[in-house]
Formats: sequence, structure tokens, C-alpha cells
Amino acid sequence: MGPSGSGKSTLMHILSGIDKPEEGSFFVGDEEVSAYSEAKITEYRRTKIGIIFQFFNLMPYLSSVENVSLPLYLAGKGKKEAHMLAEESLSLVGLSQRFAHKPYELSGGEQQRVAIARSIANRPEIIFADEPTGNLDTENSNRIMELLIHLQKERGFTIVMVTHNTEIGAMGDIQLKIKDGRLA
Ligand SMILES: Nc1ncnc2c1ncn2[C@@H]1O[C@H](COP(=O)(O)OP(=O)(O)OP(=O)(O)O)[C@@H](O)[C@H]1O
Ligand SMILES: [Mg+2]
Repeated sequence: MGPSGSGKSTLMHILSGIDKPEEGSFFVGDEEVSAYSEAKITEYRRTKIGIIFQFFNLMPYLSSVENVSLPLYLAGKGKKEAHMLAEESLSLVGLSQRFAHKPYELSGGEQQRVAIARSIANRPEIIFADEPTGNLDTENSNRIMELLIHLQKERGFTIVMVTHNTEIGAMGDIQLKIKDGRLA
């Protein structure tokens, strides 16, 4: 948690390998990910982590199943396997009735669940979530949080999440505050 502009998204982008730090280093477990080559970072992004954004970032012309399976194809999985994993993930987030729906046919909460299904489809170890409930009403926020807590407690995912909401922040096992680009 931290004020706007304090560097939360920047930190998430760096930890998920989307952005490169200009200085410093970071480790995931014993691995110095910041020292990885470009190819190894791509591999890390594709196999070790999942990312959830505030604004869902779904492809507007693709169905739920296509949105979830696309990164799996890109990672080299066959069409059948990608499709199967996508359906499994969508079922896990409670969207088994929404496989063929496009984003505009879904509510905000459902779109975010598609994005969560996409983030877990490759069975990552860590999910990075940047304000996953920031764009949702209270009821949908609560459902998304229930789902994330379920994934953490029952499925063993580690979740690193940014939030502005103190109640949601309090749900974390560990809370970190960031201020002016530094852990406070
Ligand atoms: N790629 C970039 N290159 C240079 N500066 C950047 C880059 N991305 C963000 N910044 C700057 O870094 C600072 C931190 O931005 P960041 O998006 O991490 O804040 P935040 O804590 O996520 O804020 P918010 O709560 O509003 O989302 C801002 O001043 C921003 O302008
Ligand atoms: Mg941000």
C-alpha cells in the first residue's frame, strides 16, 4: 500500500519482469531474477508468474476461453492443451457458463475473473495483482477477494497485491507500505 505515485505499479512491473530496474536487484527465492537475460526473463514471465491488472487488459474481440488460452499458445502449448487449461481455469473462477462470451458481454467483476483465470492458467507460483479490485463495486470486490484468498489458501498460490483499500490490505499475511519509491 502507498500513496498515488509512490511506485507501487513500478515495483509490480519490475517484479513481474515487464520493466527493467535501472539499479538494484531482486530475488525470487534464491534466484536473482534481475540478473536474468531477456530470454530467461520471458521464460520467467511465462512459467513462474501470473499478472492481474486494474483494468483487466482483456482482448476485446476474443472470447473468455480465447483470452485465457492466448498466452498459453504464445508460450508454446498446443491448441488442445491450451484450450483445456483455459476451460479449467475459467471453471475454477466460477465462469464455466461464460466460455464463449466476449468481454463486452461480461460484467466488470466477470471480466476481472477472466483476467484472474488467465493469470493462473499456466499454474504460476506467484500472482502479481495491481489493484485488482480498484475498478469494481464493493460486492464484486468482495467476490474477487474471496476468489484470490481461495486460490492462496486452497491452491497454494503466493499473491503479491497492491491496493488502496485498507480493509483489503488488512487481509494480507504481510503488509508493506511504500512511500516515495521506498519501503517505509
Ligand atoms: N516507465 C516509467 N519511466 C519513468 N518513470 C515512470 C515510469 N512509470 C512510472 N513512472 C513514474 O514513477 C512514479 C511512480 O509511478 P507508479 O505508477 O509506480 O505509481 P503508483 O504507486 O502505482 O501510483 P497509483 O496509486 O496512482 O497507481 C510516478 O512519478 C511515475 O510518473
Ligand atoms: Mg499504480
